[in-house]
Amino acid sequence: MVARPPVAVVVDRMTVDDLAAVHEIERESFSTPWPAHAYRQELEQNKLAHYIVARYGDQIVGFAGTWLLVDEAHVTTFATRATWRRQGIGERLLVALLDMAVARGANEATLEVRPSNMPARRLYEKFGFKVVGVRPRYYTDNNEDALIMTTDPLEGRPMQERIARLRGELAARPDIEIGPDGLPVPRPHRIDAAEGSPETGADSEAERAERAERAERAEQAERVERAPRIIRPSSVSRRSH
Ligand SMILES: CC(C)(COP(=O)(O)OP(=O)(O)OC[C@H]1O[C@@H](n2cnc3c(N)ncnc32)[C@H](O)[C@@H]1OP(=O)(O)O)[C@@H](O)C(=O)NCCC(=O)NCCS
Repeated sequence: MVARPPVAVVVDRMTVDDLAAVHEIERESFSTPWPAHAYRQELEQNKLAHYIVARYGDQIVGFAGTWLLVDEAHVTTFATRATWRRQGIGERLLVALLDMAVARGANEATLEVRPSNMPARRLYEKFGFKVVGVRPRYYTDNNEDALIMTTDPLEGRPMQERIARLRGELAARPDIEIGPDGLPVPRPHRIDAAEGSPETGADSEAERAERAERAERAEQAERVERAPRIIRPSSVSRRSH
């Protein structure tokens, strides 16, 4: 058998040549996908829009987009190919999106997400997004509310340190392992410790990080409870995912 050479994931600008693959991911990821021409319009006509893709060899394995509005980066779309999830592609895209936002003078990033979309919420929380409001019945397919999530100032120390840490962790990850079927081998994932489990005597770095993450999640849950209900529709969002 011929060994496959290692191929790194590269984040790159989205071009019109990527649109067929992007649309495929869009359809497998969202209950109300954008029509194919919407992305073309974004790329060709919307000067505020910036779209990126994650490439693995000649495949598109994820994409993300943002509108840069004065000092705000509004994330308009975000998805990873289903068979490539939990491999760090989402994180790579988000690092690239936030780097681009900072480079273009944005001071915060915002987005809307379904409360039921735990994978996306966990990803955004990992990057320091916090719930700041709720748009009631925002999603038209099932009338689900949207959580509005925003970062701390992007150039502030806490966000910069967080992004640097996550970038470092991504760089230290082993290459994505490709199975005989040509798809990534699923990575084992840490199982969340039960909330409030008794602490052991040992206080390793991993345990401290785990506790900090649990505390952050508890804080997030409380924020969702307290979040103001913002009736005015978003001035920028056009996504109904
Ligand atoms: C949300 C989404 C983009 C994540 O992409 P991904 O490539 O799987 O993300 P990553 O592998 O980089 O995961 C990064 C972190 O996100 C969180 N996460 C991702 N998937 C998760 C899941 N299924 N359960 C819990 N946490 C999850 C974890 O914190 C994870 O870090 P870890 O692997 O160290 O635990 C992907 O699930 C997706 O495309 N979903 C459908 C489209 C969608 O919902 N987009 C968001 C619209 S707002």
